[in-house]
Parts: sequence; C-alpha cells; structure tokens
Amino acid sequence: MSDDRIRIFDTTLRDGEQSPGCSMNRQEKLSLARQLERLGVDVIEAGFPIASDGDFDSVQAIARELDETIVCGLARTGKLDVERAGRAVEVAKQPRIHTFIATSDIHLEHKLRMTRDRVLEEVDRAVRQARTMVDDVEFSAEDATRSDRDFLVDVFRTAVEAGATTLNVPDTVGYTTPKEYGELIAFLRQNVEGADDVVFSVHCHNDLGLAVANSLSAIRAGARQIECTVNGIGERAGNTSLEEVVMALKTRADQFPGIETGIRTREIYPSSRLLSSVTGVQVQPNKAIVGDNAFAHEAGIHQDGVLKAAITYEIMTPESIGRASNELVLGKHSGRHAFRDRLLELGFAIEGEEFERAFRRFKSLADAKKVIFNEDLEAIVSDSIQALDDRFVFGSLLLTCGSETAPRAKVALEVDGKAVERETSGVGPVDAIFRAIAELTETGSELIQYRVHAVTAGLDAQGEVSVTIEEEGRRVIGNGVHEDVMVASAKAYVHALNKLEWHKQRRHVDAPRGI
Ligand code: KIV
Ligand code: ZN
Repeated sequence: MSDDRIRIFDTTLRDGEQSPGCSMNRQEKLSLARQLERLGVDVIEAGFPIASDGDFDSVQAIARELDETIVCGLARTGKLDVERAGRAVEVAKQPRIHTFIATSDIHLEHKLRMTRDRVLEEVDRAVRQARTMVDDVEFSAEDATRSDRDFLVDVFRTAVEAGATTLNVPDTVGYTTPKEYGELIAFLRQNVEGADDVVFSVHCHNDLGLAVANSLSAIRAGARQIECTVNGIGERAGNTSLEEVVMALKTRADQFPGIETGIRTREIYPSSRLLSSVTGVQVQPNKAIVGDNAFAHEAGIHQDGVLKAAITYEIMTPESIGRASNELVLGKHSGRHAFRDRLLELGFAIEGEEFERAFRRFKSLADAKKVIFNEDLEAIVSDSIQALDDRFVFGSLLLTCGSETAPRAKVALEVDGKAVERETSGVGPVDAIFRAIAELTETGSELIQYRVHAVTAGLDAQGEVSVTIEEEGRRVIGNGVHEDVMVASAKAYVHALNKLEWHKQRRHVDAPRGI
C-alpha cells in the first residue's frame, strides 16, 4: 500500500452500534458487513466480542464471511477480553485485534484507579498476548487528546515494542480542535520510537461537530488510517462520518495531494440507506452527502444555475455517491433476473431465503401498486433481511375500526414455531394490535416511540413504521413496511421484539455493555 493511501477503518458495527437504538442482530450486521466490503473499506470493526455472546457470534460470522476486508474485534487490555477477541476473528482471512486502555489522568484516577506504571504494564501484556494470536494488532490510547503528551509517548512506545502495528489516537470525548489534533499527531510521529514502522490512526467523536475537520487535519499531519462510521452514527454525537471524510478527500483532492482511499464512492448512498433501513434511524434531511436535501436546490436562482450548468451550485454529482434518480424501476411483469440486477445496482447483494422472501414481497407489492421506486425496493430488502432466526414471526392481522366501532385487532403469529392467535380491543387500532402482540409474546418491554412515514410520494405509497421499545436498559428499533400502515405497524413491533430477544438470548453474564 502506498504511503499516501488512507486506510478506512469502519466502526459502524461497533462504535456506531453504541448509538441509542442502533443495535443490530447478527443477520443485520452480516448484511451491512457485506455492503461495507462492496464499499471498499479496508477494515471492519465488527464488534466487541466480550460484550455478549451475540457480539461474539456476529464478529465470528463476519470474520468467516468476508474475503477482502480486515475483520477486527475490540478488546480491553484484560486477558479474557483479548482472548475472546482473538477467538472471534481467528477464522478471518485477515484478522485484527484492537486493544485499548485509557491514558488520561482523568480516566486513570476516576475510572481505572490505576497508576501510569500499571497502565504501561497492561499495554505491554495485552499487545504481546494479542500478537500471539494474530499478526495485525491495533492499540488505542482512550481519551488520548486529554492525556499528558509525554506519557502518551511512553504508552505508544511500549505498544510498538510489544508488537502493535497500528497506533490509534482517539478523541474519545470530541474535545480537540483541528490545529491541536494535527499538532498532537505530528508530535507523536516525531517522538514515538519506531513510529515510521507503524500506521497512525485517528478516531474522532463529534461532540463539537469537529470530527471530520479533526480527522482531515490529522491526515495532513501524517495519520494514515481514519476510523469512521456510515451516517456518522456512534456514541453521543457520533463518530467521524465516513461519507463526509471520504468525499472531502475526493472533492478537494487539490488540498490533499497524492492522498487516496480505496472507497468505491458509488456505494456510499446504498450503504447509508441500508444502515437507515436496518436500524430505523433516519439521517437528518440536511446531512451532508447523504441527507435528503444534500442535492436539492430550492431557491429559484440556484435551480436556474444548476439547469444551465450543474457546476454553478454542485461541487460533486449525486451519481458520484450512487444516488440513482427516483425513476420507475420495475413493474409486475419483471422477473427474478431483473429484480436481482436492480437490487445489485442499488447495492444489495442478497441471496437464498432472503432473496426469495424479497422477491415474493416485490411481486405482491407490484400487484397492489402501480409504480415501484428504488425506495420501495430498499424497504422490501430491509424487511426481508430481518427474520432468519427470529423467535416471533408475523402471520396475519384482521382489524375492525372506524368512527362507529371500538377498535379490535386479531393477530396471528408464530412463536417458537407454534401458531398462536389473540383478539384484543384497544384505545385505537395501533393500541389494539400492540396489545395482542404483547400478550402473545409475553414481552416485558416498554414502548418508547412509534413513528410512521410514507416510503415514496403518492396515495398508494408504502408506509414505513419504526417502533422503539426498551427493556432492562436495552433500547431497540424495529421496522415494518407494507402498503397497509397497520400491517406495517404490527411487523415493526414484531421486528423490535425479535431484536430484544436476540440480545437477551446471547447476553454474556458479567460483560460490559459498550465501553
Ligand atoms: O472513543 C474511543 O476512545 C473508542 C476506543 C475504544 C477506540 O471508541
Ligand atoms: Zn469511539
């Protein structure tokens, strides 16, 4: 790899998953991991294997699946953590262990209650242990930007001597500014012995809205790996947004001579859409690059300019990030082949039972709806990748409601493979449906939010419902899509319940949730 090639380290499935409501099950993570490989990221941080059996399973499944991408598991410096991370990624073609410990005095005193000497011992031990399992070891100094610089030099020197191949300098609390961060990277590159033989990496959080700017400044100072997430999801205000940092490097290549990434930028928009559909967390309309309005020109004077020459108001084209126009794509006579091709163009490589389920949904939608848009297909795909090892399967819904009658819902589900049915009344139709499902699944969860929106314009648009529920501090979002909003509501609730179940069944008893 050339010295000016920036490695894109995607942590959507780990740091990103730590955003409220963004937790994903194994099937969803696998679909995203496949898409991230198509996008061309260099490293996928697939999870935190010690956190739960579910995390371990997902990391292992991704490690087994991917061909071209380095698959990385996160670990604190504890023996068991490193062991679990190593076991989870050992099946990967290119495995990496990423181990970390906090280095700021604030964290040492209040969180770890460790001396600096003890931290150095931990770094040395953990990196050496990781190196017995894999050749590719990344070490992170958590809260690096609030750490004493000379101590950071000691920490990173210790990591290099123990065999680390990548040194990551996280701005864990999103505190630094571009100039300061660039100077820190330059200082470390100058003062850490062996710096020339390792890759410096940056990991920024967006608490002050500076994550992308800080990452770019670090690149100027010689960092060669950027840690980021699709749609910028992540703890609190999120992480460096992959699409923003990559498109900044590409669009302003004049400012970063020779610098390149391996990202296939036309896969950016499909990746963003897939993440939103899987998690149910939509991006804000004015979000750079992938927001609904990012390429919409509202003012007449702008529209006039763009029609005359796009360059007047467009610094990059929507096509360059894979935003296909919202054209009619398929009809009810389209067959399997055309359907598969169109999905591939949109960035969805689904196979087997997932594909069959999506195709059946497409056929029934095409019967009901005159025109099928790309957004409809995205919604169908996200609906179809939900359910392979689910405990609860939605069967059918019969609803009586209206201005003259009390709402009643009759819901049929499969619970652990057994068909069950319940009829209940409620304050409104959604309440009646949810009560029936709650009774059938015996859930102890609490409903936090219910949202509905139309997938496309038009009276025959599909409705997309997101349901947020919470149990024992774990919050998940479920999605459902259907021409009938009430059916979409039932599916969304069942999807959310399955996500909760998935996490419950794979909980690892004394492990931390997140970091
Ligand atoms: O923000 C952070 O410090 C992290 C580390 C684990 C890299 O996410
Ligand atoms: Zn982080």
